[in-house]
Amino acid sequence: MTTVTADQIRTRLQRLGLSTGSRVLVHSSLSSFGHVEGGADAIIDALLETVGPDGTVVVPTLTGSEFLSPDNPPTFDPDNSPCWTGRIPETFRKRPEAIRSLHPTHSAAAIGADAEELTSDHTFSITPCDEVSPYGKLAQYENGYVLLLGVDYESVTVFHHVEELAGSEYHMQKGFAKATLSVGGEEIQRRYMLHSYGTPRDFAVMEPVFIDRGIQQMTQIGDSQVRLIHAQGIVRTTLQCLRADPRTLCED
Ligand SMILES: CC(C)(COP(=O)(O)OP(=O)(O)OC[C@H]1O[C@@H](n2cnc3c(N)ncnc32)[C@H](O)[C@@H]1OP(=O)(O)O)[C@@H](O)C(=O)NCCC(=O)NCCS
Repeated sequence: MTTVTADQIRTRLQRLGLSTGSRVLVHSSLSSFGHVEGGADAIIDALLETVGPDGTVVVPTLTGSEFLSPDNPPTFDPDNSPCWTGRIPETFRKRPEAIRSLHPTHSAAAIGADAEELTSDHTFSITPCDEVSPYGKLAQYENGYVLLLGVDYESVTVFHHVEELAGSEYHMQKGFAKATLSVGGEEIQRRYMLHSYGTPRDFAVMEPVFIDRGIQQMTQIGDSQVRLIHAQGIVRTTLQCLRADPRTLCED
């Protein structure tokens, strides 16, 4: 089995285009690398060293599911609700310096210079990935990136941000769910709109367009196929496509 070290990961990420000060949202599969010496922590360390103290690393720590609805609303405790997005984000969110956004389905955790700014308004998001969510805010930075570590386009949450900007009719459930959130040992309730899970997507349809426009770079680290995509490029390009054809991202 291929063995990968944190040093190798850092060197490859730098060559790919991540640098000091970058803000990067990371979707990941630990097993995609082969064997990583030091496991999830080694990858997290490599990411944080690559962006340095002026940069910020963000991971999705999602907790939502297709079973939630206004009649079956979510509950969320940022300290204790596990995420389903993998070992790397689950390890990351437990670091003492990580700040996790207070959102009942689409929370994200961040470490770095803009961690507070990226996460602080998510609890006021009407839709999960709107402009004040970490996904929307990332795309407001010129040096914001989405990094895919061994996972494909189906993981790119920023596409949901674009669907929310475009008002995609298939994307949201009707009405509001009254979610229960734990804040400093107390429970509060807030109203949120929830994603609708009924429409299969084909986000991969955008990859050739991104390659053509030069907003995606690729490399291999160990056995893992790694893609770095410019976040503003994702939003601009996909929004243009959705305005021309509102079902661009749908499977049919
Ligand atoms: C679902 C998903 C996380 C599964 O990936 P995975 O590599 O199988 O699982 P994880 O990343 O959680 O890593 C854990 C696995 O890594 C492997 N592993 C453990 N230690 C390891 C090490 N040191 N080196 C390499 N692999 C290791 C094990 O197989 C482990 O699985 P196990 O816990 O069942 O033993 C991944 O495919 C995915 O979809 N990630 C993106 C999720 C996302 O961001 N979604 C957003 C949706 S909008």
